[in-house]
Amino acid sequence: MDKIQTLVSRRAFLYTLLTMPPALFLAACSTQAPPLATIPAAPATVSPTLVAPTVSESTDVPPTDAPTQVSATTVAQLEPTPACGDDDDEPTPAQTEGPYYTPNTPERASLLETGMAGTKLALTGLVVNLRCEPVARALVDFWQCDDAGVYDNVGYTLRGHQFTDAQGIYRLETIVPGLYPGRTRHIHVKVQAPNQPVLTTQLYFPNEPRNLTDGIYRAECEMAIQENGDGSRNGAFNFVLNI
Ligand SMILES: [Fe+2]
Repeated sequence: MDKIQTLVSRRAFLYTLLTMPPALFLAACSTQAPPLATIPAAPATVSPTLVAPTVSESTDVPPTDAPTQVSATTVAQLEPTPACGDDDDEPTPAQTEGPYYTPNTPERASLLETGMAGTKLALTGLVVNLRCEPVARALVDFWQCDDAGVYDNVGYTLRGHQFTDAQGIYRLETIVPGLYPGRTRHIHVKVQAPNQPVLTTQLYFPNEPRNLTDGIYRAECEMAIQENGDGSRNGAFNFVLNI
């Protein structure tokens, strides 16, 4: 399967997650994944303190390499068949950490705070390994700028970590991040299966004009996004760890 086809099939799976009720979402995950008995048991405790990321660039400034682009119309033409478990098992690409990571974030699934400006975003998905098996108790640590494009580098606003559940599912409540100079819209994240290396990467939004000019952007890291009637967004992204 070539790269574009891989992207399309993965997005098809995500699009399916976005458009089905939660109960069906869980059912679909369980039918796509092998029995949980095949998943190595998670340790009783997992330190939220991450080890050094695999990518150590100290800046968010885009490199000169041009990203691979996928037409926005591709998403609308996806076949509905979930792809998890076929050839669609390439690991999620690593991305630069950037200059704004803060360790030891609070454990929380919602980064929303009273009075916080911005469009609400409910993001969910799976953490799986290369065999598409869900990874339970994987650490997922998000950080992002606020609606005005500003990071809180003193406290922990819009920063938080959580652990996937027994089905390998994470759920995040946050806002759509704003824009800041030199970058397209993005959410930073570190993902770590118990006792495994850290994946540091970034998630992107479809149909963003700056996706075309941000050299860090990668189409493989694009979330599936659906706008709700109240203006809020639902997002989906599955992390495939190289384990
Ligand atoms: Fe950033």
